[in-house]
Amino acid sequence: MATDEVWKLPAIVNRFLSSRAAIPLAQEQIGIMISILGSSETPIQNFLDLGCGDGILGAAILGAYPSARGVLADFSEPMLDQARLQLKDYAGQLVFKNLDYGETDWINSMKPHGLFDAVVSGYSIHHQPDVRKRPIYEEIFSLLEPGGWFINIEHIAAESKLAIDLFNKHIIDSWYDMEKKNGGTKTRQEVADTFMNRPDKDSNILLSVSIQCEWLREIGYEEVDCYFRVYELAVFGGRRPN
Ligand SMILES: C[S@@+](CC[C@H](N)C(=O)[O-])C[C@H]1O[C@@H](n2cnc3c(N)ncnc32)[C@H](O)[C@@H]1O
Repeated sequence: MATDEVWKLPAIVNRFLSSRAAIPLAQEQIGIMISILGSSETPIQNFLDLGCGDGILGAAILGAYPSARGVLADFSEPMLDQARLQLKDYAGQLVFKNLDYGETDWINSMKPHGLFDAVVSGYSIHHQPDVRKRPIYEEIFSLLEPGGWFINIEHIAAESKLAIDLFNKHIIDSWYDMEKKNGGTKTRQEVADTFMNRPDKDSNILLSVSIQCEWLREIGYEEVDCYFRVYELAVFGGRRPN
């Protein structure tokens, strides 16, 4: 099984979804995504959530733009089932697509639904090898309307050991708090062992945010920046010029 295929396993899906709240400043990251989209001259009408998981980013966009149409794309059927469930109130406006954006032909299946005035992605593209990340950013560029935004809320490589250590400590502390709240009996050390040996860890291929922003500029995106960063997490992206 390729390392990223663990996301097709229901147990991994359930563990990620139940622990997503432990991600440092997760709500703020989504808030920044919405603020960036709010800078567009016209409201978001058509979006793509790539590697959508349970559709949390799409849900935030629909909260801000209730009449938007959207495509929720993921290669994990258990995740897509969760997305269908979470977004059932918007079913008539949404297309749920099982696709693997690691394969270059994924954009062909998007063409009937685009162009998009926002493509967003959360903690997903870092599962791709670095040689594939940049072409994905080019493919996304080709799916954007002029003036459309690509925003990546992403797990990135920290540039210091301290940032890595603080990131791990934050998550372990949060997981341990959740364990206690749920009446669990695991010690902090046991929680730390579970986190450090989690089965999806090998699927993370982290790259510095500065390199990724530079790629976006080279591809032709404008207003490229890392709009937020905490330890190993970043909100970065750019806009297709008008
Ligand atoms: C860590 S989860 C994040 C889910 C959601 N975006 C969020 O922010 O909570 C990563 C998601 O990316 C999906 N994914 C990973 N590689 C993918 C690929 N090559 N094609 C499509 N989806 C992929 C996984 O199935 C999983 O749902």
